[in-house]
Amino acid sequence: MPGQFRYPISELKQISKKVEDLNIPGILIFGMPEKKDEVGSESYNDKGIVQKAIKAVKDNTDLLVITDICLCQYTSHGHCGLICDEKINNDETLKVLGKIALSHAKAGADIVAPSDMMDGRVGAIRKELDNNSFEDTLIMSYAAKYLSSFYGPFREAAHSAPTFGDRRTYQMESGNILEALREVELDIKEGADIVMVKPALAYLDVIYRVKNKFGMPTAAYNVSGEYAMIKAASKMGWVDEKKIMEETLLSMKRAGADIIISYFALEYASL
Ligand code: PBG
Ligand code: ZN
Repeated sequence: MPGQFRYPISELKQISKKVEDLNIPGILIFGMPEKKDEVGSESYNDKGIVQKAIKAVKDNTDLLVITDICLCQYTSHGHCGLICDEKINNDETLKVLGKIALSHAKAGADIVAPSDMMDGRVGAIRKELDNNSFEDTLIMSYAAKYLSSFYGPFREAAHSAPTFGDRRTYQMESGNILEALREVELDIKEGADIVMVKPALAYLDVIYRVKNKFGMPTAAYNVSGEYAMIKAASKMGWVDEKKIMEETLLSMKRAGADIIISYFALEYASL
């Protein structure tokens, strides 16, 4: 996507300082491992790319560091969970997610953010963190994460599109609001500190309902396709990019988001 890059560790000092200088309070880190395998073992390597990135950012800034917890960037099949007979094995995946979260916490992450949508993962991660004296590491859960075509550009950048099937057995169907509320409720019961709705723009009603019903710190993820559409239309000269950016971010805030995760962060903060 225009304006978006995959950074090597050597550039993190510079970019994270820039983020801090613009008064953006925190960053969310995704990793691109050198090798992928069936079980995504690079994800919990204590010397892995995200683990190194956390240290690099923490050593150079006071930024809040949030890390993505999922398997899809690390598995050769591109699914967010372990596969057994072409099906997701939910409960085996929970053990791996706990290991990833612990290794990120050990590296210094302030918040871990599971984006996999396995059932029971918030509870499993909370338990693993607590058992290892990381009671103060928070969990921001992708509580209502919909199966969406707006993730296209991200998957291309992360080489994480599934090699077979799709994510509909774990991500939510876009017409369903009641399930979103049930998912959020479960995550809160399991110990989520912040709940997220994703994507944001086509799901403003979900953000609104979640914030009103639960009163929890609520995050909105302004995803890659939402960013890409605005960039593309403005490149064509069809819309005013800055104004549309501001208007869409404002709509998320108005809907009730306390936190907005956005590829526009640097640009918007620069304004
Ligand atoms: C995967 C993950 C996705 C995004 C963040 N984590 C995509 C997916 O579920 O395929 C999407 C982010 C974006 O589109 O900006 N766990
Ligand atoms: Zn995933």
